[in-house]
Amino acid sequence: MSDMPCTVIVGAFWGDEGKGKVISYLALKDKVDFCVRTGSVNAAHTVEIDGKKYALHMVPAAFLYDKCRLLIAAGANVHVGKLLEEVELTRVYGRMGVDQNASIIEEKHSIQDKTSAHLKGIGTTGWGVGPSLEERVRRTAKLARDVPELKPFLTDGVAEVNDGLDTGKKVLLEGTQGFMLSLYHGSYPYVTGRDTGASAIASEAGVGPTRVNDVLIVYKSFITRVGAGPLPGEMTKEEAIKKDWFEVAAGTGRDRRSAPFDFELARKVAKINGATQGALTKLDIIFPKCKGAQKFDSLPAEAKQFIKEVEDRTGVPIVLVGTGPEALDIIDRRE
Ligand code: IMP
Ligand code: MG
Repeated sequence: MSDMPCTVIVGAFWGDEGKGKVISYLALKDKVDFCVRTGSVNAAHTVEIDGKKYALHMVPAAFLYDKCRLLIAAGANVHVGKLLEEVELTRVYGRMGVDQNASIIEEKHSIQDKTSAHLKGIGTTGWGVGPSLEERVRRTAKLARDVPELKPFLTDGVAEVNDGLDTGKKVLLEGTQGFMLSLYHGSYPYVTGRDTGASAIASEAGVGPTRVNDVLIVYKSFITRVGAGPLPGEMTKEEAIKKDWFEVAAGTGRDRRSAPFDFELARKVAKINGATQGALTKLDIIFPKCKGAQKFDSLPAEAKQFIKEVEDRTGVPIVLVGTGPEALDIIDRRE
């Protein structure tokens, strides 16, 4: 990342691709100066280090690198209780900032979410993100600057990041969920309440498109989805368990539905997001012999072939390959 100071991290499919793991690796390896989290509390980003596991709903996944300034984007939506809880858990008090213009998600929004038959049919996470964003659009939402508990964290995050870029600092813009859950580009109405694409991530953070150097799209080696809506190639739960693809959502504890990797979809989402680089996570789940591998050459031929096929069919170089849950279980092909 040394010659690519500003990178957007975007999920390719329906979320849960392993963005938390990829971001925590990059933060440690590249000594990232700023990490800006977008979106809201509905997304959980899993970070694992030395057997310790965090499912972060608010604190940026780059927290593992202790010199990284952690920010919540102006366009993000803050759950105050969850943020304070995670700041304590991750001990990041002195380096956590919340943009003054971020909006606030409250208990009443969660109740509205859970009691709406329409939203229940979509299978939302129940955190209230849709109803809270409705309020923001109506211009009646509370903002971070209105909340006394957030006072110690308030900042002009947009200025911080743009000034940082002016002086060559390294910035990660942390997307949440996946591109197929985008309000504009996903499988509407079975989507979340905002655009989840690379341009929207930069917009939420207040970073202009010409300042972004790389878009790193995160693919998982198979596809999962929680909630309702179409999932091409969906397998039964029994098949998924047999293949060891079955997962439970980190945030809500719901079963994740699963399907094999979809090359056509992978190609389409790479193009729309303008991806310049790719990460492919959980290779060890489809090829168990890859577990913990850190060198491309040590991979079995069929795993190498799969990575090559992803590259050939998406046109995106796969620079990072996930081979286990820990932040450092990764093959880094960037040099
Ligand atoms: P909402 O974002 O809670 O309104 O939920 C809308 C849809 O997006 C539902 O299908 C959720 O399961 C899905 N969704 C929201 N956040 C995430 C996430 O972080 N990972 C996976 N699915 C998500
Ligand atoms: Mg998740």
